[in-house]
This record gives sequence, structure tokens and C-alpha cells, in this order.
Amino acid sequence: MPFTASVPDETLLPAAGAAWRWHGVTTPAELDAVLAIEAQSYSHPWTRGNFTDALKAGFHIQLLSHGSQLLGYTVAMPGVEEAHLLNITVCPDVRRQGLAGVLLQALAVWAQQQQAQCIWLEVRASHAATQRLYARHGFEFVAVRKGYYPLDGQQREDAVVMKRVLPGSAA
Ligand SMILES: CC(C)(COP(=O)(O)OP(=O)(O)OC[C@H]1O[C@@H](n2cnc3c(N)ncnc32)[C@H](O)[C@@H]1OP(=O)(O)O)[C@@H](O)C(=O)NCCC(=O)NCCS
Repeated sequence: MPFTASVPDETLLPAAGAAWRWHGVTTPAELDAVLAIEAQSYSHPWTRGNFTDALKAGFHIQLLSHGSQLLGYTVAMPGVEEAHLLNITVCPDVRRQGLAGVLLQALAVWAQQQQAQCIWLEVRASHAATQRLYARHGFEFVAVRKGYYPLDGQQREDAVVMKRVLPGSAA
């Protein structure tokens, strides 16, 4: 059954009125579009193999498109009464228009459908703006994971672990 989260608020988006679409990765072209955004977005982007493995593992890969343009996506791992956000990325052309918030809202809807009580994520310790973005969307600081992310050369960077308790949760 196709995913049917709440419809994104079109006033947040660059060209209201055209076709919004929530979808998964069902074609090679969709995966190519994801990989193109990954390459523009990260020093250490996910590879085709990472996405293929995530698909095989049954992770939730949620794409948001507008017409033929892929705007952004999330990848989340379902768990027992929890979900883990592994990747959230917005196309560079359409950043700072609230789309990360739309994706996080859709993620929360899906997580609640899975009976999750909370959503976990990691974010690079140096990415203060991204941590503030998550905090604005209900995520709270939990802990620091030492040396979690690769950096240049042999160096590693800490991760900040954040958690959002979902509405109605007993957690
Ligand atoms: C982080 C990201 C998903 C935010 O997407 P977005 O659609 O631009 O986010 P929103 O429009 O909902 O919110 C914008 C806010 O995000 C914050 N922010 C987070 N990361 C940011 C970044 N790298 N640069 C600028 N602002 C950033 C800012 O506070 C900004 O608010 P402002 O415009 O008032 O300053 C997007 O910048 C992105 O894909 N970055 C590359 C991948 C990434 O870092 N993903 C997160 C990994 S933990």
C-alpha cells in the first residue's frame, strides 16, 4: 500500500499547485536521483550498495517529489517500539524552505503507524545548525558517541545522539 502521510503544506514549497508525491525507491532512475543528491550533500555519501542493503533490510525509504523533481528523502530503520532515522537529505536547490520539517513530520506519522514510541538519530557534533533544526522538531539531546563518524584521513568525529518521544507515547 502506498504511504499516505499528511499532505505537505504547499505554502512551504517553491511551486504550489503541482503534483506532490510521496514514494519509495522503485526504479533505478529513482535511486540515481537519490545518489545524485547524496553526492552533493555529504563528505561521505551513502553508496548505491548502502541504499540497496537498506532496501533489502526492509528499512523505510521515503522520497518526496514535486513533479519530476526529487526534493528530499529519509531512511529509517524500524525497531521494537522505536525507529532510527539514518538519513535525511534535502536537495540543495530547495533547502531552507521547511522541507526537512515536512520530511520529519512524515517520518513521525510513519513511526507512529509502526507503534514506535520514539525516534532516535545521530548528527555530527560539529553540525550545530542541524542539531537546532532537530531540536525545533522535538528532538532532545541524549548522549555523545565518541568517534562515530569518519572525518578526513584517519580522523573521526563525535556524534550527538538525539531522541524524539512521539505524541501519545508512554515512554
Ligand atoms: C539538514 C537539511 C536536511 C535541512 O533541510 P532544509 O529543508 O533546508 O531544512 P528546513 O528548511 O526545514 O530548515 C532550515 C533550517 O535548518 C537549519 N540547518 C540545518 N542544517 C543546515 C545547514 N547545513 N545549513 C544551513 N542551515 C541548516 C537552519 O537552522 C535552517 O534554518 P534557517 O534557514 O532559519 O537558518 C539539509 O540542509 C540537508 O540536506 N543538508 C545536507 C545533509 C545533512 O546534513 N543531513 C542531516 C544529517 S544529520
